[in-house]
Amino acid sequence: MDRRPCTLLIIGGGIAAYKSLDLIRRLQDRGMRVRCILTGAAQQFVTPLAAGALCGERAYTDLFDPQSEYDVGHIRLARDADLVVVAPATADLIARMAGGHADDLAAAVLLATDKAILIAPAMNPRMWAAKPTQRNLAQLRADGVHVVGPNAGEMAERGEAGIGRMAEPLEIAAAAQALLDGGRRLGGKRVLVTSGPTSEPIDPVRFIANRSSGRQGHAIAAAAAAAGAEVVLVSGPVNLPDPPGLTVVHVETARDMLRAVEQALPADVAVFAAAVADWRPQRVSESKIKKQRSGAPTLELVENPDILSTIAHRKSGRPRLVIGFAAETDHVLENAKTKLGKKGCDWILANDVSPATGIMGGNINTVHLITAAGVEAWPPQSKDEVARKLIERIANAVADDKP
Ligand code: CTP
Repeated sequence: MDRRPCTLLIIGGGIAAYKSLDLIRRLQDRGMRVRCILTGAAQQFVTPLAAGALCGERAYTDLFDPQSEYDVGHIRLARDADLVVVAPATADLIARMAGGHADDLAAAVLLATDKAILIAPAMNPRMWAAKPTQRNLAQLRADGVHVVGPNAGEMAERGEAGIGRMAEPLEIAAAAQALLDGGRRLGGKRVLVTSGPTSEPIDPVRFIANRSSGRQGHAIAAAAAAAGAEVVLVSGPVNLPDPPGLTVVHVETARDMLRAVEQALPADVAVFAAAVADWRPQRVSESKIKKQRSGAPTLELVENPDILSTIAHRKSGRPRLVIGFAAETDHVLENAKTKLGKKGCDWILANDVSPATGIMGGNINTVHLITAAGVEAWPPQSKDEVARKLIERIANAVADDKP
């Protein structure tokens, strides 16, 4: 069995396609196996025979090709790759990716893959600068697609110059390698993540909860696992499937969550993304509380343990890097900075959870990363992209050994 990492190279229809044949070699130089898909337009510039000869296996071209659907099939092409590279990524292919099209083999594979995607755009400078192209690109970036280039320089058309030249094959191969390596940067490390809300019972049928969906915490756990870490995800009740390839401990209350977290230690890194209920009812009624003539019952609340603070203040067995979240509706940065000190954690990801932002329960997150070194504003991006970026930062910190 071929154990080399497999890069699926999708060649789009632009004059830069001739450089993609060289790219096949440059990727192979780095120990990758390369498989190729050519769009219909790409075949106007290079032939499947040339691409296939360089890859050492047939190049794929058609969505409805009975031979390849029985043999490999578009879903397996998407799944078997470790990385998908699109070079050249034309304006049309970028637009179809941003729109989620699946009208040819390349588009269908790009939609079906769960692996990292790297695109190397190449087009005329005016097409590159056009608003729709930039809008589509912003969408792809928000979806977590990685981009290399384009570079500035002479175009294929005489007298045309500007930004739009495809990045050189060596640059694309280096970017591809970095993404593949990123896939294993947390190998040998143990990462603990809390996620979701907690649910604090009032009686057998009622409870106190909050609007946390668990999406951000689950995305962080999944990204850590994808980066090769051994991950324990301690999750409150959520409507999300357990991410594959990691250990999930399901809990309900804050106290259960603290117990599960302590049992999951030691860890190199702990990320506390759960929206833990600050209070719980002092008394949990064993039977359903009935309506009374005397009026509504009074709920007496007591404070829950602060899981993040407990772990961050541990004298022994403290994870090397402890990361908290700060969900704020007002004075986001000031409150988050205060929280960093009070909770004793190393980093805080601050987000504005006022209803207008749609962050609670939504897919997009806008965060600030607060460390001892200062505050970094991250652009609005998908929760998956926030997770990947955070894992990259964690990998850098753990590798340098200086949180
Ligand atoms: N957290 C925790 N245990 C708690 C409360 C919060 O581990 N009992 C963690 C959260 O997972 C998050 C961070 O502390 O990483 C901050 O949570 P947040 O709700 O923003 O802050 P609180 O501590 O609840 O403070 P406040 O409600 O005053 O903003």
